[in-house]
Amino acid sequence: MEKMIAIRKPSDMHLHLRQGAMLKTTVRDAAAWFAQAVVMPNTLPPINTPERLAAYRDEIFSLAPGFKPVMSFKLYPGMSASAVKAMAKAGALLGKLYPAGATTNSEDGVTSWHQIKEALGAMSDLGLVLSIHCEKPDAFVLDREYKYHREFAAICKAYPDLRMVFEHISDRRSIEFVASLPDRVAGTITAHHLLLTLDDVIGANMNPHTFCKPVVKGPKDRDALQQAAFSGSSKFFFGSDSAPHLKTKKESGAAAGGIYSSPYAVPLMAELFEQQGQLKKLENFISVFGPKFYGLKPAKEKLVLIKKESTIPAVTDGIVPLCAGKTVSWSIKA
Ligand code: NCD
Ligand code: ZN
Repeated sequence: MEKMIAIRKPSDMHLHLRQGAMLKTTVRDAAAWFAQAVVMPNTLPPINTPERLAAYRDEIFSLAPGFKPVMSFKLYPGMSASAVKAMAKAGALLGKLYPAGATTNSEDGVTSWHQIKEALGAMSDLGLVLSIHCEKPDAFVLDREYKYHREFAAICKAYPDLRMVFEHISDRRSIEFVASLPDRVAGTITAHHLLLTLDDVIGANMNPHTFCKPVVKGPKDRDALQQAAFSGSSKFFFGSDSAPHLKTKKESGAAAGGIYSSPYAVPLMAELFEQQGQLKKLENFISVFGPKFYGLKPAKEKLVLIKKESTIPAVTDGIVPLCAGKTVSWSIKA
């Protein structure tokens, strides 16, 4: 008989759903595996008004009525307390801080947390979560995340009740850093940072499809991230940061950062956890700790995986997915 596991349907705590034609693809692929997802606001224009938030949520809902989008808004310099209140009233559970210039569509981001003090105070009062892309854009690329610790610590100290998420941890020093902070601070970990190192980007021929922000780092970093994911600590949970860009854009000579992992992230995680003898830790990491941190319920619905190979396509809807062309040893039970 085939080996099988049933887990609560996963929650993706960091997801880019994009817009237009690509939105249909991303919602379809995410809804197949995930009950809910924290939806990132770096669209064009950004999700930073109640009207845009409502329209985006409605569009996602019309494409997949059973899938729950957890809505965020993008913080901007000078954002007022009343603007934050309006976003909370429209249904946002989190505000996202992008350091200006750190990643895709972040030119209008924040250069110092002092620019958003009023907004952060309101978020703390309202119980909203502050989600941060932790990179200092002017530092050396492999140290950008580490060099952001000081700013993160300053915000954490200034707002003693604010829940904060250190997104897509890539550097082993950030694992120690998040672990050292109070329980109101958590970190997300992606599939690609658990599986890849810089060798997969520039070790052989340069591969734009494994290029993302923050850049995947060394074997010691990947191993420390795996240990955090296997640790059973509720401070570390899954957020895919699945962020598709068309193949043509990736292979253009000026590749945008972002890896499309939604379609196979769950079986890839099952494979990794099983290989490392940690399959029992998968459900908490991918389905339970994330929603609990946000004050949401883990899904009641189950996802059943069977030990049966699937082949990841080379291209899907014009996008090259994570681990394209490889086989993965788990599949969804039809
Ligand atoms: C993301 C995107 O393309 O929207 N890119 C990425 O490399 N991860 C933005 C982000 O989360 O940094
Ligand atoms: Zn992201």
